[in-house]
Amino acid sequence: MQLHTSGVKEIPEAYIQPQHERPNSGKPVHGENLPLIDLSRLNGDGRNQVIEELRYACESWGLFHLVNHGFPQSSMDAMMEVGRHFFELPVDEKMRFFGTKASSETRYGVVNFNSDDNRVLEWRDFLFQPCHPLSDEIISTWPDVPLHYREIALEYCKNARALAVRLLALLSESLGLRDSFLNEAFKGHDQLMLINHYPPCPQPDLALGLTGHTDANGLTILQHDDVPGLEVLKDGSWCAVSSIPNALVINLGDQMQILSNGRYKSIEHRAVVNSDKTRFSIATFCGPSYDAIIAPAAELIKQHPTQSAEYREVVYGEYLGQAYARGLEGKFYINS
Ligand code: SIN
Ligand code: FE2
Repeated sequence: MQLHTSGVKEIPEAYIQPQHERPNSGKPVHGENLPLIDLSRLNGDGRNQVIEELRYACESWGLFHLVNHGFPQSSMDAMMEVGRHFFELPVDEKMRFFGTKASSETRYGVVNFNSDDNRVLEWRDFLFQPCHPLSDEIISTWPDVPLHYREIALEYCKNARALAVRLLALLSESLGLRDSFLNEAFKGHDQLMLINHYPPCPQPDLALGLTGHTDANGLTILQHDDVPGLEVLKDGSWCAVSSIPNALVINLGDQMQILSNGRYKSIEHRAVVNSDKTRFSIATFCGPSYDAIIAPAAELIKQHPTQSAEYREVVYGEYLGQAYARGLEGKFYINS
């Protein structure tokens, strides 16, 4: 189904969310009090304070704005632009990459998970691609249009990876673990990229661009444009996440919740749509390699009030397989 149904006044039945899932069923509050982490303060006296703020952000939100992150603005701008152009391509061009099966392979999609179930459809289409290892074989599956897509995406993936490695070291430190702990636990990292395109929706109160979910991976680096849409579920209310120029949004995924033995949370988030503006977001999902065994860190089990592991160990590839199979049904953990 194509979403560019200009002139359509009513959305098709398949996109209508049940009452309790609709955007205005719980009032979104403003997101101004969302944590903002400024990495320029890491040098010198500010370091301890930044680590402290990071700990607070991960314990209470699982999501934060990140500024002075070192991700080149030129790479962010170029990716957003070439991503936009991809969605402007004629349908036939996009359909060369069409896929319906939930997997880690490159695909242009209009439904996130297998379309043969009864899930309500999301008001978006997307481009999904693996970004690791950056082998010629993987890159050859990426779109070869628009012009320069592959080289811009390649640069972007490398920048995202460098930031993920840096963030994992800082997150390790914030948990009181040795700097290399999370990077080692990830065993070389899996990395995927998702470009979301949310066209204007004639009845935005009835639909969702992206259903509420937590990310199954380790951490997500999200770049979004200045059109509002992202919301996080905080203490039972949906909060709008604003867009700060040049900032990125970082959110923790389920693997961070397991590794930190529940100290850090993967937060539920969703995307709402609006009636007049197109919104774009680019999510980079950084996770462990598929054969990595993810378990609560021994030091954090010791520090737990009952000295117990909150979660059983999982093989990341199996966890991800389950997440794909279940669709966006909210987080599931393998409790111990
Ligand atoms: C995502 O969760 O993948 C993206 C959310 C957004 O579009 O802001
Ligand atoms: Fe997400």
